[in-house]
Amino acid sequence: MNMPDEKVLRQLNDSLNLEPLWMPFTANRQFKAAPRLLVAAKDMHYLTQDGRKVLDGIAGLWAVNAGHCRQKIVDAIKKQAETIDYATGFQLHHPAAFQAAEKLVSITPKGLDHVFFANSGSEAVDTALKIALAYHRVRGEGTRRVLIGRERGYHGVGFGGISVGGMSGNRKTFGNMLASVDHLRHTHDLARNAYSRGQPEHGAEFADELERLVQLHDASNIAAVIVEPVAGSTGVLVPPKGYLQKLRQICDKHGILLIFDEVITGFGRTGKAFAAQTFGVTPDMITCAKALTNAAVPMGGVIVKKEIYDTFMDKGGANNNIEFFHGYTYSGHPLASAAACAALDLFKEEKLFERVEELAPYWERAAHSLKGLPHVIDIRTIGLVAGIELQPMADKPGARAFEAFLRAYNKNVLIRTTGDTIAMSPPFIIEKQQIDQLFDTVRDILKTLP
Ligand SMILES: Cc1ncc(COP(=O)(O)O)c(C=O)c1O
Repeated sequence: MNMPDEKVLRQLNDSLNLEPLWMPFTANRQFKAAPRLLVAAKDMHYLTQDGRKVLDGIAGLWAVNAGHCRQKIVDAIKKQAETIDYATGFQLHHPAAFQAAEKLVSITPKGLDHVFFANSGSEAVDTALKIALAYHRVRGEGTRRVLIGRERGYHGVGFGGISVGGMSGNRKTFGNMLASVDHLRHTHDLARNAYSRGQPEHGAEFADELERLVQLHDASNIAAVIVEPVAGSTGVLVPPKGYLQKLRQICDKHGILLIFDEVITGFGRTGKAFAAQTFGVTPDMITCAKALTNAAVPMGGVIVKKEIYDTFMDKGGANNNIEFFHGYTYSGHPLASAAACAALDLFKEEKLFERVEELAPYWERAAHSLKGLPHVIDIRTIGLVAGIELQPMADKPGARAFEAFLRAYNKNVLIRTTGDTIAMSPPFIIEKQQIDQLFDTVRDILKTLP
């Protein structure tokens, strides 16, 4: 680990001013009263400000799939920063963006072979929704404006993403948002599917709701359906067997685009490059981010079917017309592109997606060994993901799981909680004895939680 020197650490302890920073998705007052600061990282571990090595059970935030500070990625970023710091992608570009695009589409499901770069998952989602609207318009079906998401969906924090998303916190705080939006019901069915290993047996029929929404809005008004193949941020919800296939069939029947938001499932998390491949269902677009660069530099992307890209080009009009009026200052940023190239190479060289498939049975057994412990009401697993759902405390939703997070951190293990579900998603380089450490720590904590 590249340790910060002692003097720097001492200064940090003495003089770091926490006040000016408004932290994202954080209980700011609580954090600032008892800060948790990470000062270095390598492979499977973070180093805390007080000198503890913490096992990263969540790959940063579903993102550092190859482990932290991998030399190949660090070197690529360094070299690029010295060579070309920035070049716009508007009417000019630099080679690494094209190289990153080529490497990316070499691992996507067949037919999805063009990518539009953004800087985050949220931007990728908003970009995909805009592509869907624009695509129908350029094809002469401009009435297709309705975007359909799903309850308990998380698609980032842009207005498009929170509109199609199905988190009640967003609706409560931000109101109605985009107008032409509707939602499918979520697929969580504790009564029938608790303790499923991999895909649950029951619930393919939840996809039939799409037919009901088609009846309501009329297919001629519907542009796209967006779902996470595995919902992560609302508690690790694995799709029931046959559910995604049904969604695909109904979308095909009515000319509706299907978008998979693979911001967390992309890049090997379920054992294949994309969850679309794991579940054998090919969407029309995939949004990705996070592990695209192994999280070393922010980057997101929308991967689209050839037919979508070709339509924009064919209907683009005069040669000097901009076919899709959209883009970010940092789309395909040189440092992000270099990091993406190195990360995608590393995944391949170290066969890291295959490693997920190999480790998944061990991981599944370790996770399900927590069944029967106090408060546990469900355990869900797929690839290198586990969700441990706890009974919420009366009148204090989320409090029990958050207490588990704090206790795990103090015991040198990083987990994540969403509502009352503990979610774990380690880097793929995790060793079996580290899997044991992760689940043994959670086991000990569950035995003593209030
Ligand atoms: C499925 C999904 N979509 C979008 C996002 C948003 O990504 P970002 O935080 O990079 O904007 C996330 C973040 O966790 C996500 O899980």
